[in-house]
Amino acid sequence: MRLAKRVSGIDESVTLDITSKAKKMLKEGVDVVNFAAGEPDFDTPAHIKAAAIKAINEGFTKYTPSSGIQELKEAIAQKFKKDNSIDYSSSQIVVSSGAKHSIYNVFQTVCDEGDEVIIPSPYWLSYPAMVKLAGAKPVIVETNRDNDFKATKKELASKITKKTKCLVLNSPSNPTGSLYELEELKFIAGLAVKYRFFVISDEIYEKLVYDNKNHVSIASLGKEIYDLTITVNGVSKSYSMTGWRIGYAAGPTDVMKAVSNLQSHATSNPSSISQKAAQAALTQDQDCVSKMKVEFQKRRDLMVSRINRIKKISCINPKGAFYVFCDISELNEGSVMLSNALLDEAKVAVIPGEPFGQDSFVRLSFATGMDNIKKGMDRLEEWVNKNG
Ligand SMILES: Cc1ncc(COP(=O)(O)O)c(C=O)c1O
Repeated sequence: MRLAKRVSGIDESVTLDITSKAKKMLKEGVDVVNFAAGEPDFDTPAHIKAAAIKAINEGFTKYTPSSGIQELKEAIAQKFKKDNSIDYSSSQIVVSSGAKHSIYNVFQTVCDEGDEVIIPSPYWLSYPAMVKLAGAKPVIVETNRDNDFKATKKELASKITKKTKCLVLNSPSNPTGSLYELEELKFIAGLAVKYRFFVISDEIYEKLVYDNKNHVSIASLGKEIYDLTITVNGVSKSYSMTGWRIGYAAGPTDVMKAVSNLQSHATSNPSSISQKAAQAALTQDQDCVSKMKVEFQKRRDLMVSRINRIKKISCINPKGAFYVFCDISELNEGSVMLSNALLDEAKVAVIPGEPFGQDSFVRLSFATGMDNIKKGMDRLEEWVNKNG
């Protein structure tokens, strides 16, 4: 056998697969409407780019401390205090090359062989893969659209065993956009405190919450849950900076010290230039974030209303992020087959729900302009009416 067991069970990310197929078609001149994107379509704001250019011109182009520069960690600590009412000191923060990297580091740091990690489904597809790479076992909690795709108290409690090491919370969620309310978070916090497991709270879509709803960080709910939570966030989605690769995690000092040690041997610091850009993003004008959110809400409203007027498919209103999780169960076709047919025949790219744990759904991203949404919805409607 050539490959290590560790990687042999890990497949290529299907979301990247469909996205690259759609991109290839676009490059070849095919008029594809792309609802597959996992990133905002807006440009990175000018003042953030300017901070990066300044860093380059000033020669800030060398190694930095591997867990990130002090000024950025302080900016992150301020952000946690102001936005999330959580007190983290800079020694509790590690900056990494994207939130994905932060989460990977955290699983590697807290999970031992045979540990169990509870993951509500549908889930961001990298969680189970990362859990397996850490030698642990993903324990999936099924949810359904009647519960807004949120894990019920009963279901969650039933999955806890002596081996439970952590629970992954992703609110707002990719792919469903669901948002956990305060009472639900209090219940989860109570379970974690009672049974002593970590909560890995992935808050990457925190800034994209609609209808005047509020995002709540579970670590803000009291000292006991604070001591068991690792909060993960980053600049990719909030500031349209996916390519810059800056994410961060914050949590108990001993855990974060170990994350920092791990990172120091694996990748060292994230890009020095991107760190300066992230510092500007977090400390300068936040208007760019609100403008993006207003635009996203308009697009969401259009996409949701158009989907729900098509016979045989439907969706609930996502409370956050920039995805609509669309129910295709009445079409009697698996999500991978359907996504391929939609791309080939209707020239609309969507992501199958199967790798997210729900095969009777597809994910549509509204990180694209209104005209594109109209065009794509016309095509989807026509295709479903003909083939459904
Ligand atoms: C739920 C979730 N967490 C984390 C990430 C990773 O973000 P980053 O670009 O900071 O690595 C993504 C990106 O798609 C995501 O959807």
